[in-house]
Amino acid sequence: MLKNRNLIAPNDFTNQELNEILLLAREIVNRPDFFCKKAEGKILASLFYEPSTRTKFSFDTAMLRLGGQVIGFSDPLTSSTAKGETVADSAKTISKYADIIVVRHPKEGTALLMSKYAECPVINAGDGGHQHPTQTLTDLLTIASNKSSLCNLKIGVCGDLKFGRTIHSLVTCLSGFEGNSFVFISPEELRMPSYIKEKVAEKGKSFIETNDLEAAIGDLDILYMSRVQRERFVSEEEYLRLKDYFILTADKMALARKDMIVMHPLPRVNEIATEVDADPRAKYFDQVKFGMYVRMALIMKLLGLDESTPEEDK
Ligand code: NCD
Repeated sequence: MLKNRNLIAPNDFTNQELNEILLLAREIVNRPDFFCKKAEGKILASLFYEPSTRTKFSFDTAMLRLGGQVIGFSDPLTSSTAKGETVADSAKTISKYADIIVVRHPKEGTALLMSKYAECPVINAGDGGHQHPTQTLTDLLTIASNKSSLCNLKIGVCGDLKFGRTIHSLVTCLSGFEGNSFVFISPEELRMPSYIKEKVAEKGKSFIETNDLEAAIGDLDILYMSRVQRERFVSEEEYLRLKDYFILTADKMALARKDMIVMHPLPRVNEIATEVDADPRAKYFDQVKFGMYVRMALIMKLLGLDESTPEEDK
């Protein structure tokens, strides 16, 4: 049962629960009009303490497409945070108005903290360099729509593995599916944190670490690119030195398998040359659309709005 639960990290849900969300999302993709009043009378609070385009618009649009309404802010300076209110008090207050809260915050752990004080479900839309579970749902729906299964895949994640929260969430989640293995492709300075590597090892999955994208690409089912997370660097000089370390080009794509797919959570900076966009293996703009549908499914599940199934309503 997902009703009234929080989503803070992808492992909060079992594989079966994740699959239920994906199933509902695919149902919504097939006939979105059927779902356009499911959240009528419900309110989503969208609290963005950190910049966002896709994730905020994606959640807001998802709620509007379900017939619900949205309140919130995208600039914390316009909220009581600017007066010194704690996130705990904000959570208590806002959950008196809203039925569900979506929060993005630059500080790791904030979504978890809010979930302890809110009287409604809380969804983590990104907490610092930690986790971003709804991007993972987006990624899973993209993979499920392009590959026959979420299992037995060789997944290369490339770029800023140290600070990339989308990568932390995706790798943690996919390590829970049978037969997957990983190639962590990054410069030495931006290696995957040990706590993520430990989770992969605990699940009995293998990984290798390399800084050689060209050598690794030919063996992959999925290449997940990511930008170097400028806002999490202490030194601008270090960022400038590392920001263009990997650039995926048409030449590098020529080394990859015909059925490999390229994903990226976006925004892209320089890490994928625009010439790659025309390659049918490039799936990053499809991911954006999947993100909205999967968030519609998630909102429905956490609010318990899926209790009459589409089949029964036909
Ligand atoms: C990501 C994020 O915010 O972590 N973007 C997103 O949600 N689609 C990736 C990023 O900012 O690099």
